[in-house]
Amino acid sequence: MCGIVGYIGNKPAQPVLFKCLARLEYRGYDSCGIAVAGNGIDLQKDRLRVGELVKKVPLLEGMTGVGHTRWATCGEPSAANAHPHLDCSGCIAVVHNGIISNFQELQQQLTDEGHHFLSQTDTEVLPHLIEKYYQGNLEEAVAAALKDIEGSYAIVVLREGESKLVVARKDSPLIVGIGDQENFAASDVPAILDYTNRVVYLEEEDIGVITNSGIEIRQNGSVIRRKEHKIPWSVDEAQKAGYEHFMLKEIHEQPRVIRDTLIGYGHEIAPIIDLESMRDTGTEAMLFVACGTSYHAGLVGKCIFEELLGIPVRVELASEFNYYPQTLAKTMSIVITQSGETADTIKATRRLQEKGCHVLAITNVVGSTISRIADLTLYTQAGPEISVASTKSFIAELVALYWLAMSYSIADIKRLADMLMTLRQLPNTVQQVLDNKSGIKQCGEYLAGYDNIFFIGRGINYPVALEGALKLKEISYIHAEGYAAGELKHGPFALLDKDTPVVAVVAKDNTYEAMLNNIREIKTRGAPVIALVENGDESVGEMADFVISVPKVGLIFSPIVNSVVLQLLAYYAAEKRGCPIDFPRNLAKSVTVE
Ligand code: M6R
Repeated sequence: MCGIVGYIGNKPAQPVLFKCLARLEYRGYDSCGIAVAGNGIDLQKDRLRVGELVKKVPLLEGMTGVGHTRWATCGEPSAANAHPHLDCSGCIAVVHNGIISNFQELQQQLTDEGHHFLSQTDTEVLPHLIEKYYQGNLEEAVAAALKDIEGSYAIVVLREGESKLVVARKDSPLIVGIGDQENFAASDVPAILDYTNRVVYLEEEDIGVITNSGIEIRQNGSVIRRKEHKIPWSVDEAQKAGYEHFMLKEIHEQPRVIRDTLIGYGHEIAPIIDLESMRDTGTEAMLFVACGTSYHAGLVGKCIFEELLGIPVRVELASEFNYYPQTLAKTMSIVITQSGETADTIKATRRLQEKGCHVLAITNVVGSTISRIADLTLYTQAGPEISVASTKSFIAELVALYWLAMSYSIADIKRLADMLMTLRQLPNTVQQVLDNKSGIKQCGEYLAGYDNIFFIGRGINYPVALEGALKLKEISYIHAEGYAAGELKHGPFALLDKDTPVVAVVAKDNTYEAMLNNIREIKTRGAPVIALVENGDESVGEMADFVISVPKVGLIFSPIVNSVVLQLLAYYAAEKRGCPIDFPRNLAKSVTVE
């Protein structure tokens, strides 16, 4: 995955491109580059982070340009492989996000026709194809080139002497930002929030021409109007606001996120979404489909829905779901995705719809691909999440799932009223965790000294253990595994010794006694135990090496407070190890390829 930008307007393009690119580094940062059309095309690129390239590049003249920050997929990270890529004449510059699967064949053909290639990338065939087809009209040449391409692309194309950018997308996200006498193209909204919050989302196979005064989008050659969206995020939300990392800032935003999400959903427990309209023939089961952290939210959601609606719920990884035959009769489907751009989740949504299912999407990004293809969308109110590690968007997904389940619950009114009260107190409860994090920090720093760590939980806190392990491994590079506590003795016990700590998420629910037994068994094998327990719990303290006390909440809500603790634990372990917390190696914020 990579980040691409384009600018055309009334300002020097270079500073704008760099500012936008810096905001897209969560999509990849192994190299970057810009091309500005001034006196010819000025190309500057290197195997550097954006901040480093900024210092190296002289001021370029020109008010139109394209830029790219790369996460290498085809060709190693290097100056030659960094984008933009040019044609033979150096007149056409292209930035690309996606994968061109037939590039070798095209490269061979073009080489036979006399084109020279300078990189190992798939992208470089694009400027050469556009050059080949160019007969005075850039958009026509781009359209012709794209006919030869197999694979996915979001591209921005610039040609010397033309006051326009040509953009196109297929299976990779691309937005157009509308400004005043200036317009933008970008992979994602945070890139352009410094300049505008008016956004048009390109649809599959759209080709657009952007000038400084407008955009014209075509689909199959015909002009088409795409809706403009006003993004309800401010640029401040996409800044670090004094925190060392976006992740820490986003963890600390969670009380506000819960509060805003609840305010958005209303004062009383009432359906915020017309699920009834999705119940064609009487729903008998539910299906949640998602990836990564959102999948873990789905697993928590399963417990909530089964308890509150008394309906069986299946949870599937989108990346697996797409490869199995599925029985979906009388099933209501919910897909969960922070970005709304995850390729596997989008594919699963389409597959569900092809099978006649209605799909409700829970997503954080207004106007994202998923929100446009789903039958219904429920937005979370997390605001822009920049750190690759999902934190506040996970909590916002959980709140959405609690609210949805409560609004269709068969539980009695008294129970729902109690739950509503607890839900409304959650921002304060989470704030208490954040205000008392010194013990969590100590434990995180202690864990930083180990290479292998298990996270265990039971019942509704089993997915919390999975999520805790995911968070730790992705940002600290410590090998971590999440396990259902009762499963350790079915294999992983062989790995337990004094060098393999276990983080145990203990809830005072029906799993409590079983968890105590599991902790005893672990201690017998000599492994250090860090236990998350409810305030006031004495029994676990006698066995565990470290205890982190969390505020009491109604049992069904314990995943929220426990997850916040595990996010902080991961953060402090990674900080101690000196890891690049917001941009972990090899990872990207939205996974737009299968
Ligand atoms: O945008 P999505 O929620 O669809 O993303 C799915 C996963 O890629 C994502 O949750 C990933 O696992 C997290 N960023 C990890 O912290």
